[in-house]
Formats: sequence, structure tokens, C-alpha cells
Amino acid sequence: MAYVPRPEDHFSFGLWTVGWNAVDPFGTGTRPVLDPWEYAAKLAELGAWGITFHDNDVFDFDASDSERHQRVMQLKEAVEASGLVIEMVTTNTFTHPVFKDGGLTNNDREIRRFGLRKILRNVDLAAELGATTFVMWGGREGAEYDSSKDLNAAFNRYREGLDTVAGYIKSRGYNLRIGLEPKPNEPRGDIFLPTVGHALALIAQLDNGDVVGLNPETGHEQMAGLNYTHALAQALNAGKLFHIDLNGQSGIKYDQDKAFGHGDLASAFFTVDLLENGFPGGGPRYEGPRHFDYKPSRTEGMEGVWESARANMDMYLRLAEKAREFRADPITQELMEEASVYELAQPTLDPGETIDDFLADRSAYEDFDADAKGAREYHYVELYHHAMRHLIG
Ligand code: GCO
Ligand code: MN
Ligand code: MN
Repeated sequence: MAYVPRPEDHFSFGLWTVGWNAVDPFGTGTRPVLDPWEYAAKLAELGAWGITFHDNDVFDFDASDSERHQRVMQLKEAVEASGLVIEMVTTNTFTHPVFKDGGLTNNDREIRRFGLRKILRNVDLAAELGATTFVMWGGREGAEYDSSKDLNAAFNRYREGLDTVAGYIKSRGYNLRIGLEPKPNEPRGDIFLPTVGHALALIAQLDNGDVVGLNPETGHEQMAGLNYTHALAQALNAGKLFHIDLNGQSGIKYDQDKAFGHGDLASAFFTVDLLENGFPGGGPRYEGPRHFDYKPSRTEGMEGVWESARANMDMYLRLAEKAREFRADPITQELMEEASVYELAQPTLDPGETIDDFLADRSAYEDFDADAKGAREYHYVELYHHAMRHLIG
């Protein structure tokens, strides 16, 4: 059975994903480099709805204004001709040597001013092209050596930079929101904002934090041994899940950027279950693009590039179907009931119950039978195994 992506699936890809020609620290490229509009046209043909890119995926770091304009226009025409949407734009503040110590948190103030200008210029471009998300992945914001940074100042500068960009977006009235993308390490030994939780804490300190949220990537949480679905859930719960980078990762190692679901398949199932079905007791939903940020492995030629692009969408659609069946299955609902999953949505205090009422409720404490409750069953293993039955089919 074929799983054919449709525009309403809102699948999107970074141009740098299929566009990676497989240069790595140990070897040269194994594939040709095409023009950005060629990747866009092919992605549209495969069934993608949208594309995303870094400024320098489209024009060189040192492109002249006219060259920049010409290349952006050529991409725009290809995008329009193939019915694609440019849903997100992001800035490359990591490739050029000038950014080797970061853009917003570089010790060198002149570089920070330059980095901020490059970002603001790209905000204008993002708005002009109709993007609604502006991702900021601070890949070079970090350190290898604890002696290299005044860390207090680094967080102050990170906040200053983000507030400046967010304030600029608001002052121009752009329909754009910033999605911070956490990552624990690589390329820096330690990257600032290593996880979704760290980023949420910093966002809460911003003056213009209302337009700043998260773009969590599957592999980046998993590189730190963390649960991606939990990260999405906490960002959703905080009203901050603005965008997502779906991909695959096999455990705690270098950033693999495998195709979605290739790696921890069971975790990918629950990610899709959350995205498609929401929380069991209702609550905030993610309505944004299903964006893939993966890299076709270095072993792949151009055929493998397109096969792997297709694999992301195929995997998502298959898991979406399985997740829908899992939730609709009466046995699942029974098991969830038995596990008290729905009960967690019930507030712990009664409506209108005061602290005095609560303290006076003998059933809550004095007469509570902890031993009996300590012996209750949850059947979590059976519930999980039931999900696996659906997954394996
Ligand atoms: C990575 C990151 C990057 C960012 C992208 C957006 O693999 O470490 O995912 O690909 O998402 O550069 O700025
Ligand atoms: Mn990655
Ligand atoms: Mn990413």
C-alpha cells in the first residue's frame, strides 16, 4: 500500500537536508551539489508542501546585493511554480570562520554586532518571502573550554541578542515567531541552551518572549538521552511549541540526523501519536508544519537522497495511521482507564476547595490507606505492549 503525501499533511524539508553533499570531518563530498531551486522542485514532486532554508543555502556568504536578489528571486519563482510554501527561514551563523566562537555570544563585540545585523537582514528576507517561523539554532554559541567564557555575560548577551531580534520583528509588525533550536553539543563541545528545558527557562526571562518559542529536534534531545516526546509536551504545555525538526537518532552519540523513525522507532510512534492525536485529556495541540531536518547518509547517491526524503514522509504517514488505530481501539481506552491515564487530567483539589477544606478532609490523609493504594495495579506494561502490537501490526 502506497502512502502518498498530500499538501494537507504539511510536510516540509530544509534545503540543506537533501542539499547536503555529504562532506564530513573525515571525507569529501560523495554527491553533486545542485541549485536550491532544483532541490525545491524535486521536493515538490515527492509530495512536500513546504521548504525552509538558511540564507546561505540560497546565496553565498559574500554574495553581492544583486547576486543575492537574483538567486532569491529564482528560488521564489521555482517555489511558486511548484506550489510550495516557504514556511520557515533561518540564518547561518555557524559556517564562516568569523562565527567560530558564535554570533550572539562571541567574546568579540564587533563580531556580535555583525552577527546580529546578519540575522536582522535575514528576518527581513523571511518576512518578505512569507515565512511564519524564524528558527535560531545557536550551533556555535558555546564553548570547549570553561576558562574561555564569562558565562554570566554569555547568557546576558544571548538574551540581549534574542530580545533585539524579537523586538525588531514586533516593531516591523512581521507575522513571524522565533523558534529556538536546542542542541547539547556538536559543533561546540558544550552548546548554550542544550535542551528544550534550558531554552524555556531563558525565554521566560526575555522582554519580548511572547514571540519566542521552540523548534525542538528529535535527535538533539535524544543525543542527551532525553525523551523527545516529553520535550514536545512541555513546550506545548508552555504554549511554546512553534515548530519541529523531525529526524532519527540511535542513542547518545554524534548528531546522526537520520530519517524520521530510523533510530528509536517506538519513541517516533509516541511523537506522532502526540502530534496527531493530542494529549489523552485534551489540551494544547501542535498545528504547525511537519518539518524534517535529516541528512541523507554519506553512503547514498542521488537516488538515495530522494528515497530517504520519501522515507521521512512515508514513515510519518504510517505511524500516523498506527497511532490513530491505537487510540481508537476500545482495548487501548480500557487499558488507559485502568491505568488512570484520564484521571491525571482531573485537578487534585476539588473546584472551590480551600486549603482549610483540604486539611479537614480526613479521607485525604488520616483515613487514607497507603498500603492498599501502594498495592494497586497500573498495567503500564500491558498498555505499552498494546501500543507495540499496533506498531508492529
Ligand atoms: C543540526 C541542526 C541544524 C539546524 C539548522 C537550522 O543538525 O544540528 O538541526 O540543521 O536545524 O541549521 O538552523
Ligand atoms: Mn541535528
Ligand atoms: Mn535542526
